Amino acid sequence: MRAVILVGGKGTRLRPVTYDIPKALVPLRNQPFMGYMVDFLRSGGLDGAVLSLGYLPDQIQAYFASQDLDGFSIDYAVEDYPLGTAGGIKNAERYLDGGTMVVVNGDVLTGMDLGKAIERHKATDALATITLTSVEDPTAYGLVEVDHEMLVHRFLEKPAYDEISTNLVNAGVYVLEPEVLEMIPADREVSIEREIFPELQAQGRLYAYVSSSYWKDIGTPRSYLAASNDVLSGAVGAREDFEYLDVHPSTQVGKNVKLLPPVSIAEGCEISNGATIGGRSSLGLGCRVGERAVVESSVLLDGAEVEAGAVVRGSIIGPRARVGHGAIVRGMSVLGAGCVVGEGNVLDQGIRVNPGVFVPPRSLSF
Ligand code: GTP
Repeated sequence: MRAVILVGGKGTRLRPVTYDIPKALVPLRNQPFMGYMVDFLRSGGLDGAVLSLGYLPDQIQAYFASQDLDGFSIDYAVEDYPLGTAGGIKNAERYLDGGTMVVVNGDVLTGMDLGKAIERHKATDALATITLTSVEDPTAYGLVEVDHEMLVHRFLEKPAYDEISTNLVNAGVYVLEPEVLEMIPADREVSIEREIFPELQAQGRLYAYVSSSYWKDIGTPRSYLAASNDVLSGAVGAREDFEYLDVHPSTQVGKNVKLLPPVSIAEGCEISNGATIGGRSSLGLGCRVGERAVVESSVLLDGAEVEAGAVVRGSIIGPRARVGHGAIVRGMSVLGAGCVVGEGNVLDQGIRVNPGVFVPPRSLSF
Protein backbone atom coordinates (compact mmCIF):
# COMPACT_ATOMS: atom_id res chain seq x y z
CA MET A 1 0.00 0.00 0.00
CA ARG A 2 1.17 3.52 -0.79
CA ALA A 3 0.62 6.91 0.81
CA VAL A 4 0.15 10.41 -0.49
CA ILE A 5 2.05 12.91 1.64
CA LEU A 6 0.62 16.41 1.26
CA VAL A 7 3.49 18.85 1.39
CA GLY A 8 2.34 21.50 -1.09
CA GLY A 9 1.34 24.18 1.42
CA LYS A 10 3.34 27.35 1.97
CA GLY A 11 3.45 26.90 5.74
CA THR A 12 2.47 30.52 6.31
CA ARG A 13 1.95 30.04 10.04
CA LEU A 14 5.53 28.89 10.45
CA ARG A 15 7.02 31.94 8.72
CA PRO A 16 9.64 33.24 8.64
CA VAL A 17 11.22 29.78 9.02
CA THR A 18 9.31 28.53 5.96
CA TYR A 19 10.55 31.31 3.70
CA ASP A 20 13.72 29.22 3.35
CA ILE A 21 12.88 25.74 4.56
CA PRO A 22 9.67 23.94 3.55
CA LYS A 23 7.73 22.77 6.59
CA ALA A 24 8.37 19.19 5.47
CA LEU A 25 12.09 19.66 6.08
CA VAL A 26 12.27 21.61 9.31
CA PRO A 27 14.57 19.65 11.59
CA LEU A 28 13.55 17.85 14.74
CA ARG A 29 16.60 16.67 16.68
CA ASN A 30 18.57 17.54 13.55
CA GLN A 31 16.64 15.22 11.31
CA PRO A 32 14.37 16.73 8.62
CA PHE A 33 10.74 16.17 9.49
CA MET A 34 10.16 13.91 6.46
CA GLY A 35 12.45 11.32 8.05
CA TYR A 36 9.91 10.88 10.86
CA MET A 37 7.12 10.74 8.31
CA VAL A 38 8.73 7.88 6.39
CA ASP A 39 9.29 5.99 9.67
CA PHE A 40 5.63 6.51 10.56
CA LEU A 41 4.39 5.22 7.20
CA ARG A 42 6.72 2.25 7.37
CA SER A 43 5.41 1.44 10.84
CA GLY A 44 1.97 1.01 9.23
CA GLY A 45 3.35 -1.48 6.70
CA LEU A 46 3.37 0.92 3.74
CA ASP A 47 5.95 0.42 1.04
CA GLY A 48 6.07 3.79 -0.66
CA ALA A 49 4.67 7.28 -0.98
CA VAL A 50 3.86 9.98 -3.48
CA LEU A 51 4.97 13.43 -2.43
CA SER A 52 2.31 15.95 -3.41
CA LEU A 53 4.43 19.07 -3.87
CA GLY A 54 4.03 22.70 -4.81
CA TYR A 55 6.05 25.02 -2.57
CA LEU A 56 9.87 24.73 -2.63
CA PRO A 57 9.66 21.30 -4.30
CA ASP A 58 13.34 21.15 -5.28
CA GLN A 59 14.53 21.10 -1.69
CA ILE A 60 12.20 18.25 -0.82
CA GLN A 61 13.21 16.23 -3.88
CA ALA A 62 16.89 16.85 -3.13
CA TYR A 63 16.39 15.61 0.43
CA PHE A 64 14.83 12.34 -0.69
CA ALA A 65 17.44 11.89 -3.43
CA SER A 66 20.13 12.00 -0.72
CA GLN A 67 18.47 9.33 1.46
CA ASP A 68 18.82 5.58 1.42
CA LEU A 69 15.20 4.60 2.06
CA ASP A 70 15.84 0.88 2.01
CA GLY A 71 13.17 -0.06 -0.52
CA PHE A 72 10.58 2.57 0.44
CA SER A 73 9.67 4.01 -2.95
CA ILE A 74 9.08 7.73 -3.56
CA ASP A 75 7.39 9.51 -6.47
CA TYR A 76 6.72 13.20 -6.93
CA ALA A 77 3.58 14.92 -8.16
CA VAL A 78 4.40 18.61 -8.51
CA GLU A 79 1.62 21.21 -8.83
CA ASP A 80 1.94 24.25 -11.09
CA TYR A 81 -0.45 26.09 -8.77
CA PRO A 82 -1.93 25.05 -5.37
CA LEU A 83 -4.58 22.37 -5.85
CA GLY A 84 -5.59 22.14 -2.19
CA THR A 85 -5.60 19.08 0.03
CA ALA A 86 -7.90 17.00 -2.22
CA GLY A 87 -6.56 18.38 -5.51
CA GLY A 88 -3.07 17.36 -4.37
CA ILE A 89 -4.25 13.77 -3.91
CA LYS A 90 -5.97 13.73 -7.31
CA ASN A 91 -2.79 15.02 -8.91
CA ALA A 92 -0.90 12.06 -7.41
CA GLU A 93 -3.33 9.50 -8.87
CA ARG A 94 -1.03 8.33 -11.66
CA TYR A 95 1.46 7.05 -9.09
CA LEU A 96 -1.09 5.11 -7.04
CA ASP A 97 -1.89 1.44 -7.56
CA GLY A 98 -5.69 1.61 -7.70
CA GLY A 99 -6.16 0.13 -4.21
CA THR A 100 -6.70 1.47 -0.68
CA MET A 101 -4.35 4.32 0.16
CA VAL A 102 -3.19 6.37 3.12
CA VAL A 103 -3.12 10.16 2.92
CA VAL A 104 -1.25 12.22 5.43
CA ASN A 105 -0.79 15.93 6.03
CA GLY A 106 2.91 16.55 5.75
CA ASP A 107 3.09 18.38 9.07
CA VAL A 108 1.80 15.75 11.47
CA LEU A 109 4.11 14.13 14.01
CA THR A 110 2.43 11.16 15.60
CA GLY A 111 3.01 7.84 17.24
CA MET A 112 -0.41 6.52 16.25
CA ASP A 113 -0.84 2.89 15.26
CA LEU A 114 -1.33 3.34 11.52
CA GLY A 115 -1.64 -0.39 10.93
CA LYS A 116 -4.59 -0.53 13.32
CA ALA A 117 -6.26 2.46 11.64
CA ILE A 118 -6.00 0.66 8.28
CA GLU A 119 -7.35 -2.55 9.84
CA ARG A 120 -10.36 -0.73 11.35
CA HIS A 121 -11.02 0.98 8.02
CA LYS A 122 -11.13 -2.36 6.26
CA ALA A 123 -13.56 -3.77 8.83
CA THR A 124 -16.22 -1.22 7.78
CA ASP A 125 -17.83 -0.20 4.50
CA ALA A 126 -16.13 3.18 4.72
CA LEU A 127 -14.94 4.94 1.60
CA ALA A 128 -12.78 7.01 3.92
CA THR A 129 -11.59 6.76 7.51
CA ILE A 130 -10.42 9.92 9.15
CA THR A 131 -8.19 9.60 12.21
CA LEU A 132 -9.01 11.75 15.21
CA THR A 133 -7.10 12.88 18.24
CA SER A 134 -8.27 14.68 21.36
CA VAL A 135 -6.96 18.15 22.16
CA GLU A 136 -7.14 20.25 25.31
CA ASP A 137 -8.44 23.42 23.69
CA PRO A 138 -10.77 22.44 20.86
CA THR A 139 -11.77 26.03 20.02
CA ALA A 140 -8.82 26.44 17.66
CA TYR A 141 -9.66 23.38 15.56
CA GLY A 142 -12.29 21.81 13.38
CA LEU A 143 -14.10 19.27 15.57
CA VAL A 144 -15.47 15.96 14.38
CA GLU A 145 -18.51 14.37 16.03
CA VAL A 146 -18.87 10.60 15.77
CA ASP A 147 -21.53 8.15 16.89
CA HIS A 148 -21.08 4.92 18.87
CA GLU A 149 -20.14 3.03 15.70
CA MET A 150 -17.51 5.61 14.78
CA LEU A 151 -19.56 6.91 11.91
CA VAL A 152 -18.86 10.61 11.44
CA HIS A 153 -22.03 12.61 11.74
CA ARG A 154 -21.00 16.27 12.03
CA PHE A 155 -18.13 18.71 11.52
CA LEU A 156 -17.83 21.79 13.68
CA GLU A 157 -15.40 24.48 12.53
CA LYS A 158 -13.64 26.40 15.34
CA PRO A 159 -16.58 26.37 17.78
CA ALA A 160 -17.32 28.84 20.57
CA TYR A 161 -17.01 27.40 24.10
CA ASP A 162 -20.73 26.77 24.50
CA GLU A 163 -20.87 24.87 21.20
CA ILE A 164 -18.18 22.34 22.12
CA SER A 165 -19.66 18.87 22.01
CA THR A 166 -16.45 16.86 21.59
CA ASN A 167 -12.71 17.38 21.87
CA LEU A 168 -11.89 15.14 18.91
CA VAL A 169 -10.15 16.83 15.99
CA ASN A 170 -8.96 15.74 12.58
CA ALA A 171 -5.47 14.26 13.04
CA GLY A 172 -4.56 14.70 9.35
CA VAL A 173 -4.11 10.98 8.59
CA TYR A 174 -6.70 9.29 6.37
CA VAL A 175 -7.34 5.89 4.82
CA LEU A 176 -9.14 6.22 1.50
CA GLU A 177 -10.65 3.86 -1.04
CA PRO A 178 -9.83 4.63 -4.69
CA GLU A 179 -13.48 5.63 -5.31
CA VAL A 180 -12.73 8.85 -3.41
CA LEU A 181 -10.42 9.90 -6.25
CA GLU A 182 -13.42 9.88 -8.59
CA MET A 183 -15.17 12.42 -6.35
CA ILE A 184 -12.35 14.96 -6.72
CA PRO A 185 -12.60 17.27 -9.75
CA ALA A 186 -9.30 17.51 -11.61
CA ASP A 187 -7.26 20.65 -12.26
CA ARG A 188 -8.81 22.93 -9.69
CA GLU A 189 -8.26 23.67 -6.03
CA VAL A 190 -10.29 21.26 -3.88
CA SER A 191 -10.23 20.86 -0.09
CA ILE A 192 -10.68 17.36 1.28
CA GLU A 193 -11.82 18.71 4.64
CA ARG A 194 -14.40 21.18 3.34
CA GLU A 195 -15.62 19.54 0.13
CA ILE A 196 -14.99 15.79 0.02
CA PHE A 197 -15.45 14.71 3.66
CA PRO A 198 -18.85 16.44 4.06
CA GLU A 199 -20.04 14.65 0.90
CA LEU A 200 -18.82 11.28 2.21
CA GLN A 201 -20.41 12.01 5.57
CA ALA A 202 -23.73 12.74 3.89
CA GLN A 203 -23.48 9.35 2.12
CA GLY A 204 -22.79 7.62 5.46
CA ARG A 205 -19.43 6.34 4.18
CA LEU A 206 -17.07 8.35 6.41
CA TYR A 207 -15.80 6.61 9.54
CA ALA A 208 -13.40 7.68 12.25
CA TYR A 209 -10.51 6.04 14.05
CA VAL A 210 -9.62 7.63 17.37
CA SER A 211 -6.01 7.53 18.46
CA SER A 212 -4.81 8.30 21.96
CA SER A 213 -1.14 8.25 20.92
CA TYR A 214 1.18 11.23 20.70
CA TRP A 215 0.05 13.78 18.10
CA LYS A 216 1.19 17.23 17.18
CA ASP A 217 1.15 19.26 14.00
CA ILE A 218 4.31 21.26 13.56
CA GLY A 219 2.60 24.13 11.77
CA THR A 220 3.26 27.09 14.12
CA PRO A 221 6.40 28.25 15.95
CA ARG A 222 4.82 27.16 19.24
CA SER A 223 3.92 23.67 18.08
CA TYR A 224 7.20 23.24 16.18
CA LEU A 225 9.19 24.07 19.32
CA ALA A 226 6.99 21.77 21.38
CA ALA A 227 7.49 18.95 18.87
CA SER A 228 11.24 19.57 18.91
CA ASN A 229 11.23 19.33 22.71
CA ASP A 230 9.20 16.12 22.60
CA VAL A 231 11.48 14.46 20.05
CA LEU A 232 14.58 15.48 22.01
CA SER A 233 13.02 13.99 25.12
CA GLY A 234 12.31 10.70 23.34
CA ALA A 235 8.53 11.10 23.67
CA VAL A 236 8.03 10.32 19.99
CA GLY A 237 10.01 9.30 16.93
CA ALA A 238 12.86 7.75 18.92
CA ARG A 239 14.96 5.18 17.13
CA GLU A 240 16.89 2.37 18.76
CA ASP A 241 20.11 4.37 18.94
CA PHE A 242 18.42 7.26 20.77
CA GLU A 243 20.79 9.30 22.95
CA TYR A 244 19.77 12.16 25.20
CA LEU A 245 23.16 13.72 24.60
CA ASP A 246 23.36 13.63 20.83
CA VAL A 247 26.57 15.55 20.20
CA HIS A 248 28.45 15.22 16.91
CA PRO A 249 32.08 14.21 17.54
CA SER A 250 33.31 17.19 15.49
CA THR A 251 31.86 19.65 18.03
CA GLN A 252 34.45 21.99 19.52
CA VAL A 253 33.62 22.29 23.19
CA GLY A 254 35.41 24.91 25.32
CA LYS A 255 36.21 24.82 29.04
CA ASN A 256 33.44 24.71 31.64
CA VAL A 257 30.75 24.25 29.04
CA LYS A 258 27.50 22.80 30.36
CA LEU A 259 25.64 20.49 28.01
CA LEU A 260 22.41 19.62 29.77
CA PRO A 261 20.53 16.73 28.18
CA PRO A 262 18.51 16.34 26.16
CA VAL A 263 20.41 18.22 23.47
CA SER A 264 21.27 17.54 19.87
CA ILE A 265 24.30 19.17 18.29
CA ALA A 266 24.99 18.66 14.58
CA GLU A 267 28.32 18.59 12.77
CA GLY A 268 30.77 21.47 12.93
CA CYS A 269 29.42 23.42 15.91
CA GLU A 270 31.58 25.47 18.23
CA ILE A 271 30.65 26.04 21.87
CA SER A 272 32.94 28.47 23.67
CA ASN A 273 34.11 28.56 27.28
CA GLY A 274 31.48 28.75 29.99
CA ALA A 275 28.50 28.46 27.62
CA THR A 276 25.40 26.49 28.59
CA ILE A 277 23.38 24.42 26.14
CA GLY A 278 20.50 22.57 27.52
CA GLY A 279 16.92 22.26 28.45
CA ARG A 280 15.93 20.56 25.17
CA SER A 281 17.85 22.47 22.55
CA SER A 282 19.09 21.53 19.13
CA LEU A 283 21.88 23.16 17.16
CA GLY A 284 22.09 22.66 13.40
CA LEU A 285 25.19 22.39 11.23
CA GLY A 286 28.02 24.80 12.00
CA CYS A 287 26.33 26.82 14.76
CA ARG A 288 28.45 28.92 17.09
CA VAL A 289 27.74 29.74 20.70
CA GLY A 290 30.00 32.30 22.34
CA GLU A 291 31.56 32.50 25.80
CA ARG A 292 29.10 32.32 28.71
CA ALA A 293 26.15 32.40 26.32
CA VAL A 294 23.04 30.40 27.25
CA VAL A 295 20.80 28.48 24.84
CA GLU A 296 17.79 26.82 26.37
CA SER A 297 14.73 25.06 24.96
CA SER A 298 15.45 26.47 21.52
CA VAL A 299 16.21 25.47 17.97
CA LEU A 300 19.24 26.96 16.23
CA LEU A 301 19.11 26.30 12.50
CA ASP A 302 22.22 25.77 10.35
CA GLY A 303 24.92 28.37 10.75
CA ALA A 304 23.16 30.36 13.49
CA GLU A 305 25.34 32.26 15.90
CA VAL A 306 24.79 33.27 19.51
CA GLU A 307 27.52 35.64 20.59
CA ALA A 308 29.24 35.88 23.95
CA GLY A 309 27.00 36.53 26.94
CA ALA A 310 23.79 36.33 24.88
CA VAL A 311 20.76 34.35 26.06
CA VAL A 312 18.32 32.45 23.83
CA ARG A 313 15.32 30.86 25.53
CA GLY A 314 12.30 29.10 23.99
CA SER A 315 12.96 30.54 20.54
CA ILE A 316 13.85 29.63 16.97
CA ILE A 317 16.99 31.13 15.45
CA GLY A 318 16.97 30.89 11.66
CA PRO A 319 19.77 29.79 9.37
CA ARG A 320 22.81 32.09 9.60
CA ALA A 321 20.94 34.44 11.96
CA ARG A 322 22.93 36.12 14.72
CA VAL A 323 22.13 37.04 18.29
CA GLY A 324 24.59 39.76 19.21
CA HIS A 325 26.86 40.08 22.20
CA GLY A 326 24.83 40.16 25.47
CA ALA A 327 21.48 40.21 23.62
CA ILE A 328 18.42 38.33 24.88
CA VAL A 329 15.98 36.47 22.64
CA ARG A 330 13.11 34.76 24.43
CA GLY A 331 9.40 34.04 24.64
CA MET A 332 8.90 32.09 21.43
CA SER A 333 10.69 34.62 19.29
CA VAL A 334 11.58 33.64 15.74
CA LEU A 335 14.49 34.99 13.68
CA GLY A 336 14.36 34.43 9.95
CA ALA A 337 17.40 33.45 7.91
CA GLY A 338 20.24 35.93 8.24
CA CYS A 339 18.49 38.18 10.77
CA VAL A 340 20.47 39.95 13.45
CA VAL A 341 19.51 40.98 16.97
CA GLY A 342 22.02 43.64 17.81
CA GLU A 343 24.38 43.74 20.78
CA GLY A 344 22.56 44.13 24.10
CA ASN A 345 19.07 44.18 22.53
CA VAL A 346 16.11 42.22 23.88
CA LEU A 347 13.63 40.43 21.64
CA ASP A 348 10.67 39.03 23.58
CA GLN A 349 7.87 37.26 21.69
CA GLY A 350 9.15 38.92 18.55
CA ILE A 351 9.53 37.95 14.93
CA ARG A 352 12.35 39.19 12.72
CA VAL A 353 11.87 38.53 9.04
CA ASN A 354 14.73 37.70 6.70
CA PRO A 355 16.35 40.74 5.15
CA GLY A 356 14.89 41.40 1.71
CA VAL A 357 11.58 39.60 2.26
CA PHE A 358 8.51 41.81 1.95
CA VAL A 359 5.88 40.88 4.51
CA PRO A 360 2.31 42.06 4.14
CA PRO A 361 0.89 43.27 7.47
CA ARG A 362 -0.56 40.60 9.74
CA SER A 363 0.75 37.66 7.74
CA LEU A 364 2.75 36.23 10.63
CA SER A 365 1.23 34.41 13.55
CA PHE A 366 1.95 32.26 16.54
P1 GTP B 1 -0.43 27.26 6.64
O1 GTP B 1 -0.23 28.19 5.49
O2 GTP B 1 0.37 27.66 7.82
O3 GTP B 1 -1.85 26.92 6.96
O4 GTP B 1 0.25 25.89 6.22
P2 GTP B 1 -0.04 24.86 5.06
O5 GTP B 1 -1.02 25.33 4.04
O6 GTP B 1 1.29 24.44 4.58
O7 GTP B 1 -0.62 23.67 5.89
P3 GTP B 1 -2.11 23.26 6.26
O8 GTP B 1 -2.06 22.77 7.66
O9 GTP B 1 -3.06 24.32 5.94
O10 GTP B 1 -2.31 22.05 5.26
C1 GTP B 1 -2.23 20.70 5.69
C2 GTP B 1 -1.26 19.95 4.80
O11 GTP B 1 -1.69 20.02 3.44
C3 GTP B 1 0.15 20.51 4.85
O12 GTP B 1 1.06 19.44 4.98
C4 GTP B 1 0.31 21.24 3.54
O13 GTP B 1 1.64 21.15 3.02
C5 GTP B 1 -0.65 20.50 2.63
N1 GTP B 1 -1.25 21.39 1.63
C6 GTP B 1 -1.95 22.54 1.87
N2 GTP B 1 -2.33 23.08 0.71
C7 GTP B 1 -1.88 22.26 -0.28
C8 GTP B 1 -1.96 22.30 -1.72
O14 GTP B 1 -2.51 23.20 -2.32
N3 GTP B 1 -1.37 21.28 -2.38
C9 GTP B 1 -0.72 20.25 -1.75
N4 GTP B 1 -0.16 19.30 -2.49
N5 GTP B 1 -0.63 20.20 -0.41
C10 GTP B 1 -1.19 21.19 0.31
